[in-house]
Amino acid sequence: MARKMLVIDDDPTVLSSCQRIFEAEDYYVATTTSPEEGLSLVLDTYFDVVLCDWMMPGLDGMDVITRLDQTSPGSAVVMISGYPSIERATEAMKRGAMDYVAKPFTPDEIIKAVNEAIQRKEDEETKIIERFGRLTKTGQISLPSIDEKILQALSAAIDERRRTEAQPSLESLSEPERLQEITFAVLDKYERDKNNLIAMLQAVHSYAGYLSYEAIGLIARELQISEHDIFGTASFYAQFKFEKPGKHLIRVCTGTACFVGGGGVILEAAKSRLSIVPGQTTEDGVFSLERVACLGCCALAPVVTIDDEVYGQMSPAKLSRTVDKVYRTESVKSA
Ligand code: FES
Repeated sequence: MARKMLVIDDDPTVLSSCQRIFEAEDYYVATTTSPEEGLSLVLDTYFDVVLCDWMMPGLDGMDVITRLDQTSPGSAVVMISGYPSIERATEAMKRGAMDYVAKPFTPDEIIKAVNEAIQRKEDEETKIIERFGRLTKTGQISLPSIDEKILQALSAAIDERRRTEAQPSLESLSEPERLQEITFAVLDKYERDKNNLIAMLQAVHSYAGYLSYEAIGLIARELQISEHDIFGTASFYAQFKFEKPGKHLIRVCTGTACFVGGGGVILEAAKSRLSIVPGQTTEDGVFSLERVACLGCCALAPVVTIDDEVYGQMSPAKLSRTVDKVYRTESVKSA
């Protein structure tokens, strides 16, 4: 089966060169000059490899790599740059890139780099798969939901410790302080045993609603394992989010019935109204956007949900009005 490649570069010459080179190597090649579109494409299609430019208008290539590492962890990412430097290469690799190639490159150079990157990615995945067994190569696996009693016990332990040490309650701490306190409590509860890594991530995620870079950094430091390994492990599980979720979650259905009824148009309207793509949160933290395959109410297609509310026969105008309404409610609350 042909391998799939995505090339993200604002230079059309690079796109057409890569297309020519890799189609001759039997790849299916998709190209885009827009980093945002590239990040959106990986949500629809699994690409074996993504070539990504560093300097592009809009999103920085480094940020694209970070997001690719979260949204398409199985793809081998190769950064290409006309301004190579050791520091940038190191940074790119730290963020999950498999290689860094300086422009201009010859066909042989880029083919070699891509093949080696795919091989390294596959080796890395194999190691993780061996470590966690039962995983299939493409599938993310489900986590059992964390026992509510464990969370309650952790909360009680934190509160008790803070009471006896005459410290203010957890609620009165700033968010970073609270997250740190919770992460330490979770590490203590699981006795800093690396075998309990998933359970620890799950507990921190349940408290915070996401796994922050800070929490991952803290766990990595305390367990003496690399942050990259933790990301590599956690990103196999669809349930883990790495960005703080918005106060309200908008889900746009693009399942068959909704798509036929205009779900794609609704999704584009949501992206444009909120200035984010699925998987992201608005800068003001009010909305997160997700695309889903079916919400189980196809007769109402196209369907959108906002938190627990279902909106059927959605239209771009209705979506915009609903978003405005939520914003009005939020500003009343904060007034
Ligand atoms: S396809 Fe959208 S609700 Fe079923």
